[in-house]
Amino acid sequence: KNMTKIQIALDGPAGAGKSTIAKQLAAHLDYVYIDTGAMYRAVTLAALEQGIDLEDGQQLGELMTSLDIRLTPGENGQRVFIGEREVTESIRSSEVTNNVSFVAKHAQVRSALVEMQRRLAESGGIVMDGRDIGTVVLPDAELKVFMTATVEERAGRRHRENVARGMESDLEALQAEIALRDKRDSEREVSPLKQAEDAIYLDTTDLTIDQVVLRLTELAEGVLK
Ligand code: DC
Repeated sequence: KNMTKIQIALDGPAGAGKSTIAKQLAAHLDYVYIDTGAMYRAVTLAALEQGIDLEDGQQLGELMTSLDIRLTPGENGQRVFIGEREVTESIRSSEVTNNVSFVAKHAQVRSALVEMQRRLAESGGIVMDGRDIGTVVLPDAELKVFMTATVEERAGRRHRENVARGMESDLEALQAEIALRDKRDSEREVSPLKQAEDAIYLDTTDLTIDQVVLRLTELAEGVLK
């Protein structure tokens, strides 16, 4: 096998399946998976807990200087800690999910996280997923993919996941939430969700997870040759 360890940037809107795919792709290649959305979620959780006004970029910037976010690879993907405290589950609450776009729009938050993300990716051998990885965080990544699917399909996938977990789930509400998050993430001024010019566009609406993982594995192997 090729010894070169490349950087793989995976961007796209909420619910496109990026994390599922990135996790499996990383396992195939024996790479490390880095979920940057989890970092924005951890900041949001801390800000909510500390009662910080999510419109106050300066206060959020101050929070960033004291916040010790740690990512560690675990059995079922990445685990997230704030200091010693594990927040892997609590950053997935709907309160965090519905507020993270407000936090993620501030330059003070983004610059601190982008710096962390670049450090984590430095030595390569990573699959990083997010919104601005190909455009801002890792502009020189050897492979960039922009993954998307229709809002209906993305909401449907989340709905089926919830139902399978025995959770209550409202398909129409999910669709509205996803559409709103897409809008906020695409329209913000700092590093909006956008396809990098040199990214490969992949519409997964009619593809299975296995098909997408296979396609990306082939693309990665093409780069490694
Ligand atoms: O991927 P996710 O749904 O866990 O991401 C949560 C939020 O974080 C998403 O609404 C937008 C923001 N985000 C971002 O602005 N930039 C990234 N690189 C990753 C996520």
